Amino acid sequence: MICMTSELVTANNTGNIALGIDDQCVEPTDYMRRYHMDVLLHQRDETVLKGIRTKKHSLVGCINCHTKQDGHGQNIPINDEGQFCESCHTYAAVKIDCFQCHRSTPDIEVANDE
Ligand code: HEC
Ligand code: HEC
Ligand code: HEC
Repeated sequence: MICMTSELVTANNTGNIALGIDDQCVEPTDYMRRYHMDVLLHQRDETVLKGIRTKKHSLVGCINCHTKQDGHGQNIPINDEGQFCESCHTYAAVKIDCFQCHRSTPDIEVANDE
């Protein structure tokens, strides 16, 4: 296994993010805070309706960067209580059902950041 630890940064400016593979989001943070749903739904429509598959705004990418790990190197699902998507949505009283179909853990092996 390739050790990726050196590429991992802890981007905890907001307190919501444990693990960023890069230190920046796919769009400026302020924009993402307000418009991530538009970004996601646009990406979905491009893929599902037009068959266009790109990486930049992929839901898989969000999960890869925004999931945390527990103390044993296990990925915690992004929609678990207190995790990235869920914590903010609870606060904002938003309900999303994306993870019935989409995976809520990374699809890459993320090095244990310890
Ligand atoms: C009923 C199952 C289902 C649900 C629920 C669902 N999706 Fe999807 N989604 C799919 C399928 C199937 C595709 C097509 C995958 C492909 O062809 O690559 C897709 C594709 C996507 C894509 C484009 C692929 C990518 O990641 O770049 C995005 C983005 C996406 N969905 C976001 C969402 C979001 C956000 C929600 C919740 C609001 C959601 N989906 C809920 C089944 C679902
Ligand atoms: C390459 C890693 C990476 C990817 C991919 C990524 N993000 Fe981010 N995201 C970050 C980082 C790092 C920050 C915090 C940046 C900062 O604090 O300036 C962030 C910030 C955010 C914020 C603002 C958080 C807050 O507390 O205000 C939201 C919302 C967000 N991302 C959603 C998403 C969504 C939705 C996707 C997928 C479409 C995604 N991100 C993809 C790394 C990523
Ligand atoms: C910084 C807080 C925050 C974070 C983090 C966050 N969201 Fe959101 N999200 C919101 C808010 C607030 C809304 C409602 C916006 C509105 O109604 O205008 C929302 C709405 C959505 C919607 C549209 C729901 C609907 O019914 O219209 C989707 C889809 C979504 N978020 C996906 C995600 C995903 C996936 C993640 C994790 C990768 C995430 N969000 C992380 C705050 C956040």
